[in-house]
Parts: sequence; C-alpha cells; structure tokens
Amino acid sequence: MSSTTSSHGRRKVLRSLVKRAAIPLADASGSYAVQHLPEWMAKSGFDFARWRRIWTARNPGNDRADLARLVAFIEHAAIVEGEALPGSVAELGVYRGTTARLLHELLPGRTLWLFDTFEGFDERDVAGDPGATSGSFRFTDTSLEAVLRHIGRSTRVRACKGRFPETAVAVPAGERFAFVHLDADLQKPTADALEFFYPRMVPGAVLMVHDYGSRAWPGVAAAVDAFFADKPESPVRIPDRSGSVVVRKSKAPVQRAGRSPG
Ligand SMILES: C[S@@+](CC[C@H](N)C(=O)[O-])C[C@H]1O[C@@H](n2cnc3c(N)ncnc32)[C@H](O)[C@@H]1O
Repeated sequence: MSSTTSSHGRRKVLRSLVKRAAIPLADASGSYAVQHLPEWMAKSGFDFARWRRIWTARNPGNDRADLARLVAFIEHAAIVEGEALPGSVAELGVYRGTTARLLHELLPGRTLWLFDTFEGFDERDVAGDPGATSGSFRFTDTSLEAVLRHIGRSTRVRACKGRFPETAVAVPAGERFAFVHLDADLQKPTADALEFFYPRMVPGAVLMVHDYGSRAWPGVAAAVDAFFADKPESPVRIPDRSGSVVVRKSKAPVQRAGRSPG
C-alpha cells in the first residue's frame, strides 16, 4: 500500500470514529458542534489537512478551532479562481500572517497586498472606538520581517507598513482586486478600507470582513452597515466564531425598481 493510500485509509478510520463518538458527545453537550466538511472537500482528493496545518500554525487557541472560517476562505478563494476573476488580493489586518499566508497559497499567481502597522493598533484609531478601549488586545507582538518569513519566499507580496489608509498611496491607480479581506477590528480603519477597496473590486470579487458579529469589536458592524446601506449588495453572515460577513461585488448594473420597461 502506498503512503498516500495508507494515510487516506487512516483518515477514513479517524473520520468514522469522530462520527461515532464525537458527534453524540457534542450533541449531548448542547453547546459544541462537530461540523462536516463540504462534500466536495471530503469526498474528493482535496487535501484539507494541508490547509488546516497552515490555519493552526500561528493561530491562537480560539481562532485555530474556528474551522468554519477556514472553510469559508477555501470556498470563496475557489470561486475567485474557478471564475478566473482578474485582480489582486488585499488584506488589512495581518498581525502574525495566518490569513495572509492562507490567502497567498489559496490564490496563487496573484499579487498580495498586505496592510498593517506591524506594531499593533494606532492610538488615533483606538480613541473613540466602541470596542477597543475595553479590550486588552493590541497586536504589538509581531513584525513585518516575521510575517514575510512565515509567508515564505515570494515576489508577489507587497507589504505596506504603517497606518491605513495613509499607506494606500502605494497602490497604483489601475490596481484592481478579486479578493479583499478586512480584519482590523476597529471601526475607523474598517470604514476607510471599505471606501478604498470597494470601487477597486472587479465585478464578482469577494470581500470578507471578520468580526462583524463580534461583541468585542462592535465598530466593525457599524462600519459595514453604514457603508452598505446605499449599495446594491448585502453582507451575508457566515456561521464562524466571530460572525464574519461575505459580500460579492455586483456583476450587473443595478435595475431600479418602480419603472415599467419600455
Ligand atoms: C486581529 S489582527 C489581524 C489578524 C490576522 N488577520 C491573522 O490572520 O491573525 C488586527 C490587525 O489590524 C491591524 N490594524 C488595525 N488598525 C490598523 C490601521 N489603521 N492600519 C494598519 N493596521 C491596522 C493591527 O495592527 C493588527 O495587526
């Protein structure tokens, strides 16, 4: 038996053990869930273990267990690749590079723009934010060099160190985006990023915003709701831990209601 076949066999046995033991236990707890992978991932030769390793490598405990979020990244990157949407990838809020590396590997061949101070929150954004003042997170324990090492050798990464939106001046006028991930936690940078990226997203592009449903960071939902109030798209929540939302940029000009054709 080849090593691939035997590891596939081991995985099958483990999956069946999880089904028999863990699902009833999770049901009985009333608060935990064991979630199936989407069929196409579980039943094809898709190597979920590889993406899980990237997800857990540098993620703190609570976030590494948020596999619904990992699956959402994989699914939406597959849409962008499957539809061959043109454009780069951008992330605001990189911290130690977990989602940056994931996006870089899920969307190969595309430029990856990274925006972060790489020194934690800017105090000007923290002041007045509805969530930041009570939280203890500041994300100072990182560096741009460590993030680049984690992502690995690549000529496609454009790292913009400093406070967003000031750092957005590095983006050339014609740059367009197929996938944008916002994970800045605070209201002001989230609002600024929506203003900046939305008009630069190609039709069909994916926008993922983390923490929309988070009680710790209420400014994110405030920024998203205010921005999309007059846009044709509606953010849709996914069932991950912090209630991320996903938006696909409209492909067609908006039809105004109330006018009879002709
Ligand atoms: C929750 S962390 C990002 C987590 C990351 N996506 C991951 O994979 O672990 C939030 C990050 O947003 C960054 N950030 C917040 N406001 C910013 C701003 N105005 N400009 C640049 N970076 C900002 C912080 O420095 C911090 O690293």
